[in-house]
Amino acid sequence: MFEISDKIQIAKDTFSVWVEAPKIVENAKPGQFVIVMGEEDGERIPLTIADTKGSKIRLIFQVVGKSTKKMAELEKGQSYAHVVGPLGKPSEIDYYGTVLLIGGGIGIAPIYPILKALKQAGNKVIAILGARTSNLLILEDEFRQIADRVIITTDDGSKGMKGLVTDAMKLLAQEGEKVDRAWAIGPVIMMKYATLTAQELGYPITVSLNPIMVDGTGMCGGCRVTIAGSVKFACVDGPEFDGELVNWDELLNRLGQYKEEEKRALQEIKK
Ligand code: FES
Repeated sequence: MFEISDKIQIAKDTFSVWVEAPKIVENAKPGQFVIVMGEEDGERIPLTIADTKGSKIRLIFQVVGKSTKKMAELEKGQSYAHVVGPLGKPSEIDYYGTVLLIGGGIGIAPIYPILKALKQAGNKVIAILGARTSNLLILEDEFRQIADRVIITTDDGSKGMKGLVTDAMKLLAQEGEKVDRAWAIGPVIMMKYATLTAQELGYPITVSLNPIMVDGTGMCGGCRVTIAGSVKFACVDGPEFDGELVNWDELLNRLGQYKEEEKRALQEIKK
């Protein structure tokens, strides 16, 4: 069970794996995630199902700490100890007209199944894919094959437009592109500013808070977020929420702590 049938590195510290998980494939919908435990006693890592094919699911992850480093060490033919899912509420796929998908960094992976489903529902889909630099950009070819238009942005200008995803959002507006609905998935700071820009430009935006999940169980409290004044948990009540209702500043304040913990754990195993 959960055998890794394919594993490739697709960007710096970023891996794509296809995992044998027939039961999960049967029920998986865009926007949903699984919890992976690389080893029996490993940490639980929530990862969005980036794609499905036959009896396999595709997972894309970045090495950011001890557990993801361990996952990256498992090779084709080996297996993960546990893969549980699909979990979380699926994305609201419908016909909206023109949909703008904004993916930042590793957040490009969870946007991909949403792209496929929205195209199938007949939407015109424009994608903005942002990365800090060109060697961190993932899935460009896959997006180009399906989306009606793809705009790449990099912070350092090493590929595509130099700037942030919000610059590309403004560019589309200047071109007179009418957007009916948007999705953004990526670093919390990016989702905050994508939301503010969408508000300014006058279209609704859904964000996926899966990047803030810790164990995906509803128990650790790591993905706690205030939505329209009430406390929610991204892994149980989401991961998708209306971007305008998220208390971004509270969330950003709280997240600083986890980064430090991850850094410390990674230093520990490098010793
Ligand atoms: Fe732990 Fe949601 S990730 S409660």
